[in-house]
Amino acid sequence: MSKKTYYITTPIYYPSDKLHIGHSYTTVAADAMARFKRLTGYDVFFMTGTDEHGQKIQLKAEEKGKTPKEFVDEIVADIKQLWGILDVKYDHFIRTTDDYHVKAVQNIFQKLYDQGDIYKGEYEGWYCTPCESFFTEHQLKDGNCPDCGRPVQRIREEAYFFKLSKYQDKMIKYIEDHPDFIQPVSRQKEMINNFLKPGLEDLCVSRTSFDWGIPVPFDKEHVIYVWIDALSNYITALGYSLEDDSMMKKYWPADVHLVGKEIVRFHTIIWPIMLMALGLPLPKQVFGHGWLILEGGKMSKSKGNVVDPKVLVNLYGVDAVRYFLLREIPFGADGVFSNKSLIDRINFDLANDLGNLLSRTVTMIEKYCEAKIPKPSAKEEIDQDLTSMAEKLPENVEKLMNDLEFSGALQEIWKFVRRANKYIDETMPWKLAKDETKKDRLDTVLYNLAEVLRIISVHISPFMPNTPEKIRKQLGITDESLSTWESVKTFGKLPSGLTTAKKEIIFPRIEEDKSSDKAKENEQTAPKKQEQTKQEQDTNANLVTIDDFAKLELRVAEIVEAEKVEGADKLLKLQVEIGDTRRQIVAGIAKHYKPEQLLGKKIIVVSNLKPAKLRGVESQGMLLAASIGKELTLVTVDDDIASGARVK
Ligand code: ME8
Ligand code: MG
Repeated sequence: MSKKTYYITTPIYYPSDKLHIGHSYTTVAADAMARFKRLTGYDVFFMTGTDEHGQKIQLKAEEKGKTPKEFVDEIVADIKQLWGILDVKYDHFIRTTDDYHVKAVQNIFQKLYDQGDIYKGEYEGWYCTPCESFFTEHQLKDGNCPDCGRPVQRIREEAYFFKLSKYQDKMIKYIEDHPDFIQPVSRQKEMINNFLKPGLEDLCVSRTSFDWGIPVPFDKEHVIYVWIDALSNYITALGYSLEDDSMMKKYWPADVHLVGKEIVRFHTIIWPIMLMALGLPLPKQVFGHGWLILEGGKMSKSKGNVVDPKVLVNLYGVDAVRYFLLREIPFGADGVFSNKSLIDRINFDLANDLGNLLSRTVTMIEKYCEAKIPKPSAKEEIDQDLTSMAEKLPENVEKLMNDLEFSGALQEIWKFVRRANKYIDETMPWKLAKDETKKDRLDTVLYNLAEVLRIISVHISPFMPNTPEKIRKQLGITDESLSTWESVKTFGKLPSGLTTAKKEIIFPRIEEDKSSDKAKENEQTAPKKQEQTKQEQDTNANLVTIDDFAKLELRVAEIVEAEKVEGADKLLKLQVEIGDTRRQIVAGIAKHYKPEQLLGKKIIVVSNLKPAKLRGVESQGMLLAASIGKELTLVTVDDDIASGARVK
């Protein structure tokens, strides 16, 4: 039986400037999805590329004193290098200057003209060059581009038009009949209410005032509008209208086009209407993801607030950067990028949770089992709990991935990582090791941990291409059949007797103060805080505004571990859970509480406090306590409320 196919695309990028972390976000997401589908048995075609024509590129090239082709060649090389650095493994990279694409776009234009869907007229209206987008007077916002806010130009040219209006009702019906077509759902309503229902105007699809584009085949004064050229890439790459269109038969319609929210409109109105007119099936889904923003708005070169992904990879490694991008922000939503949040993810999720699980496990196998994966015997209830969670994991993750819930899938995997760390605390192998009669039990516990790590290594492989191999090396796994998706559906496939090899720490902790200088070079936050008004300065210094208060993030946290800090008789080191994240907090409460009294208590912590070191021990937050004289009591909450709850 032939494999099921899966065709996924990113937008094709304008090679007008260096790409930033925002672009990397889409491409890394598409790559993770492509890897996941390959892992789960699909024949995948993953495509990305560059959108090289148009007025914007021509102008940029002129500024640099280069021909457009010279200009784009350099940037395209840079883009390809970036995808290499980010371990993006595409199956095909399309350039709209490729000969086959040029030919196929001309075929498409000719066909639409021959059948009467394209006609000649005159365009008069507004044009935004950075967005390569036409607007009518009433679409402008304060006289500027409604999408990017920049100035627009008035243009009046002889032009060809595409009969969008003819397909308007068909398009509305299609969206209504196919609720999966536009995702997330909120963007569906936006398209129907803001664009389709008010009425579609025919689209201007050629330009005559510059020449960096694909010539209209029957009227060489005109170049084809860059969006018609660009959107066609999704089928020209498969050989549409060309001699060999076997790829078209195999992979079309696409399973999903991943696009940023500002270009959903092009992909869910213009593109499907082009396909309808060509008599082709529509892509199964267009997914409009959110933006990565820095304080000050969407990251963009013109605002000067970009973050260079190459610098980040240099500092933190590719797997950490990919993990951060996919974990931090739910795929449909906007998310703020900050160096702090990136470092937190590395320190908590990667160094603490995953890194420690691996190093604790391998160290114990080395110490107690002569560096050989031990043989398990009968399971106890607590093992059952762990293994049943393991066996449910592949199905849960697959479901989330199919909904493009990258962050959700990673959260699910990390719940399991944390469960395994807790299993170590519960079973206390170091205690078992002290008792000869408990050898079987010790072996079982350590076997289970090694098997958990194997299972985790397979699950994280779509997101983090390099870490799985590092984990498997330490566990002594070389057999590739132990890295398949099938192999993680049953707990216990890991053979006993493999030789473990403790190696480097997979994710070293990042010291925030050391990295922050380098990070600052990279992170240029745009606008400065507005100057304080006179009135604000006059306000009584003892009063805070509601906005000041809102800056504090107070959350309910559950204490899961507590111990004394050596050499400091006032301090306790606590591990707390805030929702599904874990942190370490150092508090001066040793005179008031014994460590064991604290376990399971739900307290309130200031969770956005800058981390600090107390006696050399890092503290990531502060807890609230009431005190008077020598008395002190922790502020606690009712057991009913879950940890992670916001206090306000
Ligand atoms: O739009 N956060 O190209 P492009 C998240 N050539 N995504 C971002 C982002 C950010 N800060 N900045 C950009 C084009 N992107 C056309 C596409 S497809 C037939 C033609 C995303 O280089 C953006 O949302 O301006 C878009 O999906 C992609 O990068 C390419 O942007
Ligand atoms: Mg753009």
